[in-house]
Amino acid sequence: MSTVPSLAVRLGSLELPYPTLMGSGCYGTGEEFAPLADLTRIGAIVLKSVTRLPRLGNPMPRIVHTPAGMLNAIGLQNPGIDWYLERELHKYAERPCKLIGSVAGFSVDDYARVCERLAARAEIAAVELNVSCPNVASEGETFGCDPGLTAEVVRAARSTTDKTLIVKLSPNVTDIAAVARAAEAAGADALAVINTVRGMAIDVDAWRPRLGNVAGGLSGPAIRPIAVLAVYEAAQAVRIPIVGQGGIETLTDALEFFLAGASAISIGTANFTDPRVPGRIVTELQAYLARRGLADLGALVGKANQGFTTPHQYEGDEG
Ligand SMILES: Cc1cc2nc3c(=O)[nH]c(=O)nc-3n(C[C@H](O)[C@H](O)[C@H](O)COP(=O)(O)O)c2cc1C
Repeated sequence: MSTVPSLAVRLGSLELPYPTLMGSGCYGTGEEFAPLADLTRIGAIVLKSVTRLPRLGNPMPRIVHTPAGMLNAIGLQNPGIDWYLERELHKYAERPCKLIGSVAGFSVDDYARVCERLAARAEIAAVELNVSCPNVASEGETFGCDPGLTAEVVRAARSTTDKTLIVKLSPNVTDIAAVARAAEAAGADALAVINTVRGMAIDVDAWRPRLGNVAGGLSGPAIRPIAVLAVYEAAQAVRIPIVGQGGIETLTDALEFFLAGASAISIGTANFTDPRVPGRIVTELQAYLARRGLADLGALVGKANQGFTTPHQYEGDEG
């Protein structure tokens, strides 16, 4: 095929040149990565989640190395929405890629107020709702673990903006399809699947939890099969696009997510060890589509059960 396959993707009204988002909390504002990676070759940066009030975060240690991944319990450290909007956001506007704001909260009203103020800013192209937070009004139950609570948050945030609203689902649920459907019905334009998986590590010399917060979120390749299944199940439950994430490091990993039903992917933990991962995946993905004679990514999305049916055109992925 002579033309270069398109990697462009649309999430609601948000159009991105590449299907690669940088995961919230894993890419900062892009500043540290700019000397190491070509930010014109990424889809968007999802900024660190911001809350209504400033947060100091959890006690140290906040990060623990694990086999094939890491546990983190940062505790949503951030300066709060007032400081963030007045002193920080304008600095990020220089980035040569789209910025997606991320909202965290402890009440439905928190989400709505922070979403409204973030979305009102020109620097912010879309908003992601991090619903993996405890609801103080219901004994600390995580919003994203309950379809009804998820719907309340999404409805409230939806009423504040027309910009693309991405709802980031928690994997710590029994039935992710039910939460996905609730988010879609309440007005989400896209889903991000998945956030980190709850976990714990114990120091057997000190007889103490390794994380200051006791529990944390597991990320990296260790969670990839959990994430691929979650995307697969969510994709069958909804019609809105899905941003797949959880342990993506290579083209093969990314392809698993597209075939499971993701329209875009997000790269988080891999950036900590190799900031060239997103650029490499984009280059290799384009070559993969060209080799197989596919015009765009749509040809792959959700095709996990279909089988590749044109072997006469296809001479392997090695060359
Ligand atoms: C250190 C760290 C901080 C994170 N902070 C946030 C955050 O503030 N908001 C959020 O929605 N997700 C946050 N995440 C989750 C990631 O964005 C991502 O969804 C998750 O780690 C799975 O992808 P990965 O395996 O590629 O990292 C964080 C993850 C890590 C490792």
